[in-house]
Amino acid sequence: YLNYRVPQTRRDIIQTLIKGLQRMEYRGYDSAGVAVDGSGKDHAASISLYKKTGKVKALDEEIYKNNSIDFEAELDTHFGIAHTRWATHGEPSPLNSHPHRSDKNNEFVVIHNGIITNYKELKKYLVSKGYDFESDTDTEVIPKLIKYLYDNRESNYMSFSTLVERVIQQLEGAFALVFKSIHFPGEAIATRSVRAMVSLNCNTLKFPCSLLALSHTNKVIYLEDDDIAVVVEGKLYVHRIKRTAGEDPVRVIQTLQMELQQIMKGNFKAFMQKEIFEQPESVVNTMRGRICFDSNTVILGGLSDHLKEIKRCRRLIVIGCGTSYHAGVATRQILEELTELPVMVELASDFLDRITPVFRDDVCFFISQSGETADTLMALRYCKQRGALTVGVTNTVGSSICRETNCGVHINAGPEVGVASTKAYTSQFVSLIMFGLMMSEDRLSMQQRRLEIINGLQKLPELIKEVLALDDQIKSIADELHHQRSLLVMGRGYNYATCLEGALKIKEITYMHSEGILAGELKHGPLALIDKHMPVIMVIMRDACYKKCHNALEQVTARQGRPIILCCQDDPEISKMAYKTIELPHTVDCLQGIISVIPLQLISFHLAVLRGYDVDYPRNLAKSVTVE
Ligand code: F6R
Repeated sequence: YLNYRVPQTRRDIIQTLIKGLQRMEYRGYDSAGVAVDGSGKDHAASISLYKKTGKVKALDEEIYKNNSIDFEAELDTHFGIAHTRWATHGEPSPLNSHPHRSDKNNEFVVIHNGIITNYKELKKYLVSKGYDFESDTDTEVIPKLIKYLYDNRESNYMSFSTLVERVIQQLEGAFALVFKSIHFPGEAIATRSVRAMVSLNCNTLKFPCSLLALSHTNKVIYLEDDDIAVVVEGKLYVHRIKRTAGEDPVRVIQTLQMELQQIMKGNFKAFMQKEIFEQPESVVNTMRGRICFDSNTVILGGLSDHLKEIKRCRRLIVIGCGTSYHAGVATRQILEELTELPVMVELASDFLDRITPVFRDDVCFFISQSGETADTLMALRYCKQRGALTVGVTNTVGSSICRETNCGVHINAGPEVGVASTKAYTSQFVSLIMFGLMMSEDRLSMQQRRLEIINGLQKLPELIKEVLALDDQIKSIADELHHQRSLLVMGRGYNYATCLEGALKIKEITYMHSEGILAGELKHGPLALIDKHMPVIMVIMRDACYKKCHNALEQVTARQGRPIILCCQDDPEISKMAYKTIELPHTVDCLQGIISVIPLQLISFHLAVLRGYDVDYPRNLAKSVTVE
């Protein structure tokens, strides 16, 4: 936060930083800190650091406990930095929180997003030079290294940005960094190797920050890898680390369209609940302007230019993590049917671990709500290097995955704040189905099937509303289950993904053990878990797997299991074998997963509330996972 020649009190400055951190808080980070200029006449000659684990509110309170600060002092030049982090090295603690410092005088302070892979070697070297480390983080090598380079500089005139460039040349990994120093008052340097954003507005305030921390401006500049952004004397300059003759980066100022009220919680208890209830509208927004229900045509504008190339490909690879991966699992079968192509669905981390063969005639889809997930981004770069066509399916315009893919689909679900992904899943699901429909438009043999799906999509919002109306019934089931330790979720075919996704929701926000089980695998192991004490949810819809699911149900009840069954309305045969049923409206088989996942989203929400947990900030999790 830079306040240049606009007198403000220290309290105002701290509040601006705290507000920015609070905007980021929904992502679930576990500690936060700020660094501001110190007190005294020459305030920029010292830096005050405040760090705290837990919520940003705790940090705010901590700062105001400090009697030695003159909060009402008016400052006319000021640069403050703040960061909220998720522990990647070391437990959450004030010492492991950002900003990190070079020494007890806070000569250099740094905030960092990402990972430094060669930090152990650097640390060893710096320790051998007499530097003491106070944290377990990889980040701490950075302020120590810059101080080392400063102390050993060959000229007193070395600029802050030259020092930073020298630091960066020693780092390996992925990083976005902001530096502040008492030796360069009123200056700050921001840079990135994987991702960072610098935002500014055109008066005197400038904020290098992550997108959602923005509370003062909607103008942003996206930094490219190896850009160095220098803020000095109230002006922002961007240059490249390795400058080639004549190269002067032009970084365009962009205006974000996000409305503040869009990310407010309204009357809901939690963002997650709000987002579950938004699904009748969010799926419409995903389809808006893309499906013509009169002519049964589907056009995804972002893919149009590449459609010929996609149609010529030999294989589709759908890559993601967590919920986004489940959207790939959910749509694999219908994509195979509509495109008549082999479809691989891959977890990004495993895909990379296996050094999976990828070819020029592959088309690789990268599914990501945030568009910033490090594993997915790495997988994207891996596929690009091998010449495959890359397609992004994201919810965040301007995200790294958006920018680095050859083409893409924006799912238009609106901002998703709850750490547990809900509406993004159903919108990813719809987007992938629309892709299948677009690919099969000229296949005569598919017209009947396409028509059925397009009609199903048109009715989807109404059916979702019907499911949401079951909320009280679902809550009463949660009332019964919330003391349990485990919860199995079982199904197959189109609804296997529903089970994986439901179990993921349950484990991440209720901390209960939960497993999504493929009913076809029941006899190969999981059946041993079933007895009258083990709670089981089964998803049995009227589709090609109905009979086989029925068999699984018999296996479960024969072992005194008492299944809670998600089934279609008016299915007396299933109802009489169930301990409880949640009856859902029926739709086309390949869309049924959109309907059947909603009761599981609601159950996990109610279970988390009943167990007393913070739904939007589950422990140990973050909304954007920007480290591998
Ligand atoms: C689960 C959840 C995570 C994310 C995963 C990928 O509710 O939110 O499993 O789905 O971290 O994130 P994105 O989609 O942003 O790439």
